[in-house]
Amino acid sequence: MRFKWESDSPSTELTVFRQLTPDGLMSGLASQWMNPFVIIDSEVHRLWKETLVNLLDSACGVFTLSALEEEKSPGTLEALWETMAESGVKRDTCAVVIGGGLTCDVGALAASTFQRGLSLLLIPTTLLCMVDACLGGKTGINLRGLKNQVGSFHPADEILLFPEFLSTLPKREFRSGLAEALKTALIGDPSACSLIREISADSGLLDTAAELAVRCLAVKAGIVGEDLRESGTRMILNLGHTVGHALESIGSFALSHGEAVGLGLAAEASMAGELGGDRNLAREIQDMLEEIGLPFTIPEIPVLQDMADVLDHDKKSRRAARRWALPFGWGDCRIVELTPEQESSILPSALASLKA
Ligand SMILES: NC(=O)c1ccc[n+]([C@@H]2O[C@H](COP(=O)([O-])OP(=O)(O)OC[C@H]3O[C@@H](n4cnc5c(N)ncnc54)[C@H](O)[C@@H]3O)[C@@H](O)[C@H]2O)c1
Repeated sequence: MRFKWESDSPSTELTVFRQLTPDGLMSGLASQWMNPFVIIDSEVHRLWKETLVNLLDSACGVFTLSALEEEKSPGTLEALWETMAESGVKRDTCAVVIGGGLTCDVGALAASTFQRGLSLLLIPTTLLCMVDACLGGKTGINLRGLKNQVGSFHPADEILLFPEFLSTLPKREFRSGLAEALKTALIGDPSACSLIREISADSGLLDTAAELAVRCLAVKAGIVGEDLRESGTRMILNLGHTVGHALESIGSFALSHGEAVGLGLAAEASMAGELGGDRNLAREIQDMLEEIGLPFTIPEIPVLQDMADVLDHDKKSRRAARRWALPFGWGDCRIVELTPEQESSILPSALASLKA
């Protein structure tokens, strides 16, 4: 399965492979990806190094990275640059990044900055990365406890999807990916909910997971292809993320990214309900989160001031009014500007609706 999308950046090719074997992996690689610099999640390296042996052996250098939000940092980026320099990486060396969204964010940022930009192949290994993070070119590291404060737009030249990686993914991470897929279903493909339900009941359905990834990426590609640098329509992909990122940061990353986004979707649906949206939607989203096995309530509601402090550092903020991507209904998500007064009148009750 392949699709290409065009933007003001190089086109990205997506290829889905059912079998992941040492030879299958290498035969899937175009000649431009030979002798790469490999950046790989340390857990994926531990679990899959025999399968990846040919690729790893062909690399000019390998950097393993622990997928922890604390490691998504300037220090890791600098260590990556140092290893790239020691490995003799040049402008024409390509970077191959293998891992989840965290490894892809950091690895792609290193690829976009070293020698002013290397070509990039992404091989996502989490469901969240397969359904969302691998496509769209956003790279990033955290700064001062805040998410993705430093980054760039550097779309992958090619993405290879091997759903078989999901066979070793912990259940919690698997469910996080379903939250990100739920976001995409809300934006542009509500019928993908049936796939989400099927996979949440049986995570061994790798073909169904691949189908879900392709469906979600098709929605994302359509949006990103129009607005790579997020000057307008792409902001809709932040659905669930404004509240989600704040919950992640305030909770010192105790919630996984997908868990926080799921809660963010419910809270933001509740906000949209106050603005004329479907008042049942927040409840429907919470029911779906519960069905998937994701957190659908939180024990402690953050105080508004803490939320405001984090949101004011949010890079999506714009002067006095903040732009929110809010779900008004299935397939009806809108970008809305809210003044601080409007926020303080609807955000507290939306957060309170998440109370356990
Ligand atoms: N750039 C984007 O567009 C974008 C979009 C969404 C999220 N993100 C970022 O992605 C990050 C979250 O990524 P994620 O949810 O994919 O998870 P992750 O990269 O944080 O990995 C989660 C855990 O799964 C492990 N893991 C990864 N693949 C595995 C496998 N196949 N088998 C066993 N264990 C495996 C990792 O070691 C880690 O412990 C966040 O930092 C978020 O900000 C980026």
